[in-house]
Amino acid sequence: MEKLVIHGGNRLTGEVEISGAKNAAVAIIPATLLAQDVCRIENIPNISDVVTMVRILSNMGAVVRYLNKHTIEIDTRPVNSYIVPHEMTKKLRASYYLIGALLGRYNRAKVSLPGGCNFGVRPIDLHIKGFELLGATANVENAMIVASADHLTGASVYMDKVSVGATINVMLAAVKARGLTIIENAAKEPHIVDLANFLNAMGADVRGAGTDVIKIRGVTHLHGCEYSIIPDQIEAGTYMVAAAATKGDVLVKNVIPKHLESISAKLVECGAQVIEYDDAVRVRCDGPLKRCNLKTMPHPGFPTDMQPQMSVILAIANGTSLVSEGVWDNRFRYVDQLIRMGANVQVDGTIAVFQGVEELTGAPVRADDLRAGAAMIIAGLVARGTTEIEDIIYIDRGYEDYVEKLRDLGADIYRKEFRDDHNQPAAG
Ligand code: UD1
Repeated sequence: MEKLVIHGGNRLTGEVEISGAKNAAVAIIPATLLAQDVCRIENIPNISDVVTMVRILSNMGAVVRYLNKHTIEIDTRPVNSYIVPHEMTKKLRASYYLIGALLGRYNRAKVSLPGGCNFGVRPIDLHIKGFELLGATANVENAMIVASADHLTGASVYMDKVSVGATINVMLAAVKARGLTIIENAAKEPHIVDLANFLNAMGADVRGAGTDVIKIRGVTHLHGCEYSIIPDQIEAGTYMVAAAATKGDVLVKNVIPKHLESISAKLVECGAQVIEYDDAVRVRCDGPLKRCNLKTMPHPGFPTDMQPQMSVILAIANGTSLVSEGVWDNRFRYVDQLIRMGANVQVDGTIAVFQGVEELTGAPVRADDLRAGAAMIIAGLVARGTTEIEDIIYIDRGYEDYVEKLRDLGADIYRKEFRDDHNQPAAG
């Protein structure tokens, strides 16, 4: 197994290139099941979640060709099954997008319940409700979601709670349904807009993505297309936070600054300087880090997937900060690891109080999930001494070449082989 070793204390300086968005890629790849021709997708991030999703499609019979590290062609015409067993879905939360895509293609789907990051109960009731409103029956049987319909019919789907996954799944199922589907209280994340643009490039009629109301007029035929995935908002945000936390000066390139506004605003509040360019942001910090309060919310609020990383700044900022998690019930597990590094944090349900400390000190810690792992890296970069992070398989799921990118910025970080003697199953 591998762990990360970080010798903290180096300022990050220089330039970093952001990869394509993980959460867009894991929706767009299954969406190719709806096309009756080849799709060429550029700016695909080279991360294990994408490799897993591509492998699932290949196992289903799709012909997948890598043209280079970041461009793939997918031909789903040879796929002839609507069943996706557990061995394929267990590693990937987003495998539930196969339900919407297969329903859209075959009017039926049988997909094993997904795996993925573990931060509290992750229900799928809203997905199921959406499918039912489109005319399908959908049940959980033997840990598989089984959905089927004679045909899908457009409907009005009100989301009781803003859900990225349910919005995407209903979009996938509705693009070929008969008539008009209206999703109200839809999620507005950048990857929702990216998926809509991809579907429209295939000939779909999806309007309003990025607002609360998405209107989808069903079409009978979707063709192949060429498409380039947007840059990853969370990867960009993670490097921005790392730059500020280490009192560095980093140009974060290949980004859409509009997607980063909530993150930039918080960094400025914490004393960093953020300069926006057309497709880059520069983050630098040379003064003291200041406290702030943080509340995570669906887009355009502060992203929950940036909460652990930003909290590392609050752990070493002057004063007391309040972090309120507004999306997930259980997203403070990483705090135990930060406390091992000297942070002073108290958690009560979905609220954490950070009392800033002078410094963090290196320690053996683990990555509880993908973004918790990113937070551990940032903590290791600012800590005095050596930090060793285990369970980095989670980090590999969502950050392309992060060791290389961080080293280019001046970090002292490397992977090290080790024998896992605890014999403990990994969490998540
Ligand atoms: C996606 C992201 C994840 C991010 C999250 C919120 C992907 C692959 N993952 O996850 O990184 O943290 O958005 O931005 O894009 N809920 C229900 N019923 C449902 C579905 C969700 O109650 O049927 C609740 C969840 O428990 C949670 C909230 O809605 O409290 C938001 O979840 P959702 O937006 O669906 O997250 P995911 O799509 O799973």
